[in-house]
Amino acid sequence: MLSLRDLSTSYGPVHAVRDVSFTAQEGQITAVLGANGAGKTTLLRTISGLLRSRHGTIELDGRRIDRLSPERMPALGLAQVPEGRGVITELTVDENLRLGGLARGRVRPADLQRVYELFPALADRRAAVAHVLSGGERQMLVIGRALMSRPRMLLLDEPSLGLAPRIVTQIFGLVRSLVEDEGLSVLLVEQNARSALSIAHRGIVLNLGRVVADADADVLADDDQLRHAYLGF
Ligand SMILES: Nc1ncnc2c1ncn2[C@@H]1O[C@H](COP(=O)(O)OP(=O)(O)O)[C@@H](O)[C@H]1O
Ligand SMILES: [Mg+2]
Repeated sequence: MLSLRDLSTSYGPVHAVRDVSFTAQEGQITAVLGANGAGKTTLLRTISGLLRSRHGTIELDGRRIDRLSPERMPALGLAQVPEGRGVITELTVDENLRLGGLARGRVRPADLQRVYELFPALADRRAAVAHVLSGGERQMLVIGRALMSRPRMLLLDEPSLGLAPRIVTQIFGLVRSLVEDEGLSVLLVEQNARSALSIAHRGIVLNLGRVVADADADVLADDDQLRHAYLGF
């Protein structure tokens, strides 16, 4: 579905992503793993058009998207959930979700309803300002906001960062069920390789901007050398 070939992105002299090639299959979770600074966020921001690649190609369903502006992505079915859970804290839960719908042109009441069914904790607090939400609730809110644009593929950047293990399990379980029940495709960027591999179909490991492994998730999880060298578990 999403195919990268020889993709490189730099910040001036810093080569953050180097000749990265891989394919994320439709209806699967593809984990992009690697230590802090490996280039994961740079890769996601290049896919979503926020950064421009130095060279290489990005194709979605066989169509080049690497020279399109980020505003075009929702209509193509791509939605990014940025690192750091950037909700607008002064707005209510409901208003934050509606902004996600606007990315696709309009807010559909059925989409709002669906997000509240997926995240009952948000439904209970729909009139509360996002400022009062816990970290886990904020993560649910940014995922819900992305779902409001009816994506076919979700780009998730470190959803587990700083959350309690119980909350991570809950959020990852929900992501997995969206994939299984609704055919959503997910590119899941994570430092938390153990949790990510527990729900992913495939994993890509980055080190200093390069792909050092690309295999089925269970193969990566069983590779002791790789785990110790790059995955930290
Ligand atoms: N805005 C920036 N300007 C310059 N260098 C950056 C910038 N953002 C990230 N980098 C550098 O690019 C590399 C990859 O960073 P990043 O993509 O954020 O990695 P990750 O998400 O895997 O932690 C790191 O060396 C980082 O210091
Ligand atoms: Mg990052």
